[in-house]
Amino acid sequence: MRVLLTGANGQLGSALCEVFGNETVIPKDLPDFDLTRSSVEEEIVGSAPDLIIHAGAYTDVDGAEREPDLALAVNAKGTEQIARAAVRLGARLIYISTDYVFDGTQRIPYCENDIPRPINRYGFSKWKGEQVILASGARALIIRTAWLYGTVGKNFVKSIIRAAQREPILKVVNDQSGCPTYAEDLAAAVASLVRKDVEGMIHVTNRGQCTWYEFAQAIIREMGFCCSVMPITTEQAGRLAKRPSYSVLSPDRLASLGLALPEWRQALARFAKVARLPLGYFHE
Ligand SMILES: NC(=O)c1ccc[n+]([C@@H]2O[C@H](COP(=O)([O-])OP(=O)(O)OC[C@H]3O[C@@H](n4cnc5c(N)ncnc54)[C@H](OP(=O)(O)O)[C@@H]3O)[C@@H](O)[C@H]2O)c1
Repeated sequence: MRVLLTGANGQLGSALCEVFGNETVIPKDLPDFDLTRSSVEEEIVGSAPDLIIHAGAYTDVDGAEREPDLALAVNAKGTEQIARAAVRLGARLIYISTDYVFDGTQRIPYCENDIPRPINRYGFSKWKGEQVILASGARALIIRTAWLYGTVGKNFVKSIIRAAQREPILKVVNDQSGCPTYAEDLAAAVASLVRKDVEGMIHVTNRGQCTWYEFAQAIIREMGFCCSVMPITTEQAGRLAKRPSYSVLSPDRLASLGLALPEWRQALARFAKVARLPLGYFHE
């Protein structure tokens, strides 16, 4: 099978490259492959993949408030070209979306058919990406995930590990709840969903939920650091983009297919083993 993978150098893309290592992987990413270029559709058609996994995205949540047009150009217009290419090829398409399509007003896990109401520009651009895929008629699966971390790229876990080595006290937001997700586990689930030929919409995260503060505490414990973590509010954190206060995604559809990801603390423990390896293992 020929698998074209956008965002191949990103944290999920790198994990997907490994998981699909026995297939013919066609990796695409900046700078050679730019989702804002009008040539994207032809470029993909020219590569003739059987499956397109579209993990490439503008992912800087605060940056999207400053550069909303760029976020839309990458996440919506770029995705539209990918969907058109998939339709022309008759290829299967997997689009990676986000918990940030929801507004966070619910207090029970969000299901696939709950109505998205993004409250920031990044979430809006990813939701537009979902809509162009649904409207395209492509044989598509939209996978919403959340709070991703892995060995490659920037993420919350690596930021906490770095900060814990410098600061005695870390201040972390305690009024946003979500589902931390290890890129390695998500990549394995993507492969299972491809094998099962699942279409439509599905939520895929590690099981369980926590706040960023609870997540930071668990990271510190797993890594054996001795700094302390102080809970703060979203308002105190003063980030540019609004974040949903609750974006827990329901695992029910995934479970109905006989699939479940490990609980988030177990996943973090596996990641921590890798993180304790000699410096140089992580790539930015
Ligand atoms: N990270 C999360 O917490 C999270 C949560 C929910 C959903 N998601 C979704 O999951 C997917 C994978 O996320 P990730 O964390 O692996 O993201 P990531 O590490 O930022 O990877 C995204 C990749 O897309 C590339 N990219 C950015 N702009 C591009 C453009 N104009 N043309 C082509 N490629 C471009 C990035 O390149 P540069 O690094 O050079 O910019 C990067 O290699 C994304 O679709 C994201 O929206 C992520």
